[in-house]
Amino acid sequence: MEDRIDELREKREEALLGGGEDRIESQHDRGKMTARERIDYFLDDGTFNEFDRFRTHDVHSFGMEEKKLYGDGVVTGYGEVNGRKVFVFAHDFTVFGGSLGEVFAEKVCKVMDKAVEVGAPVVGLNDSAGARIQEGVKSLGGFGEIFRRNTEASGVIPQISAIMGPCAGGAVYSPALTDFTFMVKDSSHMFITGPDVIETVTGEEVTFEELGGARTHASTSGVAHFAEDGEEAALDHIARLLSYLPQNNVEDPPRVEPWDDPERADEELNGIVPDQPRKPYDMTDVVEGVVDEGSFFEVHEEFAKNVVVGFARLDGRAVGVVANQPRVNAGTLDIEASEKASRFVRTCDAFNVPILTLVDVPGFLPGTDQEHGGIIRHGAKLLYAYSEATVPLMTVITRKAYGGAYDVMASKHLGADVNYAWPTAEIAVMGPQGAVNILYDDELEAAEDPDERRDELIEEYREEFANPYTAADKGFIDDVIEPPETRARLVDDLEMLQSKRDSLPDKKHGNIPI
Ligand code: COA
Repeated sequence: MEDRIDELREKREEALLGGGEDRIESQHDRGKMTARERIDYFLDDGTFNEFDRFRTHDVHSFGMEEKKLYGDGVVTGYGEVNGRKVFVFAHDFTVFGGSLGEVFAEKVCKVMDKAVEVGAPVVGLNDSAGARIQEGVKSLGGFGEIFRRNTEASGVIPQISAIMGPCAGGAVYSPALTDFTFMVKDSSHMFITGPDVIETVTGEEVTFEELGGARTHASTSGVAHFAEDGEEAALDHIARLLSYLPQNNVEDPPRVEPWDDPERADEELNGIVPDQPRKPYDMTDVVEGVVDEGSFFEVHEEFAKNVVVGFARLDGRAVGVVANQPRVNAGTLDIEASEKASRFVRTCDAFNVPILTLVDVPGFLPGTDQEHGGIIRHGAKLLYAYSEATVPLMTVITRKAYGGAYDVMASKHLGADVNYAWPTAEIAVMGPQGAVNILYDDELEAAEDPDERRDELIEEYREEFANPYTAADKGFIDDVIEPPETRARLVDDLEMLQSKRDSLPDKKHGNIPI
């Protein structure tokens, strides 16, 4: 027996070394952790249970029989993060560059299948050279199996990807199908075709970092939700993100012990919205004044900054926040903001996270770029996302809610449960300037002093329409509240809405304008 145990222990030691000490050193020299070090750092101590540590590939060409390494380039299994079950797979770059072959793909599929069966999140730590060249079409088949599982698991369990090295070609599509993508600055990149191919085909010269680095994807393409300073920060933030999410779509997100006074009335909220309607302010100050102190966790921070999305807590309960940002492009909705917000609304709805929407929106961004880029169908995504959402929806209009954008931003008409306005709210078909120019163009032309007359008419319009009371009169706004009252109202509402039951008609799936 002892011999057998020694043999097992030896094999285990061998498996722990992946592609060997030299390659581990080379991984460290690049400032990267190994697959096992990442898992050790990420999971609670001593909770990792590995699957398939002794699997090897079954390839006989290219001299591959001589190169059989335990684990075949990916470490898989399950463990706990802050006491909650999580499935993981971590690409091992020290084994064939973390490239994906048939066995590798089977291992990833096994943890994905188990995660769906037991209803727990899957976190993928990506660091791979993509399809394993020696395995040809079997690698491509393996990717396909993973893509299909990503899609089937979508909206059932949270799926999170961290990119901690290369991720190229077809390999990018698995992270793209997951709910959240983290990238590490300077050591990760994602692209369909790399700089060399781009230069050959188009003559364009571009570096890896400019083409597909973390900053590029977090700010320009929106492919990454987070760009992190180092692997540890990425893994810490994944753990924080998981704390706002349920284990699966039939559970609610966990409530944590509240630490902030639910009745806290932040008087500073009274001073945030400027008296001048065109003056910008920072909507995140409103978010922070309302939610539990320190609980706001922004998502997609550098992308489409005219809308802010993220998770927060109200009296310990998780909420998703969607807020126009008047500091950027006056908070107008454009193509990217619509996509960012609609994706986030659907993520929250899929995972039973109630949504708090803060509104200060002058409308959709005008321009041929926007119209020709399809703002109509992209803006429709946000309408669609809110309209199909069945989670509790709470909306607060702080200042402007004009035109179609009023409807879009979780209005009563789309199914919001509670809608409030601050006394500074202006809810109308369009802003006073535009409305007066259209309604009174003849009168203004004939006026002795058109500018003076315009100002008078603007003032009249503002008094009549640019306020919250017409909407409140119709019941489209449930109440007009003082800013410091907001937190206590929302805390009560969220509690009241815990037992909300809402459902959509049975259908195969909707047809969101994509
Ligand atoms: N299939 C099989 N093995 C691969 C591989 C692949 N697609 N890509 C890399 N490897 C192996 C290398 O042969 C090397 O093996 P070794 O350690 O036994 O020498 C090891 O992985 C590391 O690769 P290397 O090129 O030395 O690392 P690098 O950090 O300099 O470059 C990449 C990493 C990913 C940029 C580079 O390997 C690359 O471009 N690979 C091809 C990517 C690709 O086109 N994949 C298909 C896309 S679907």
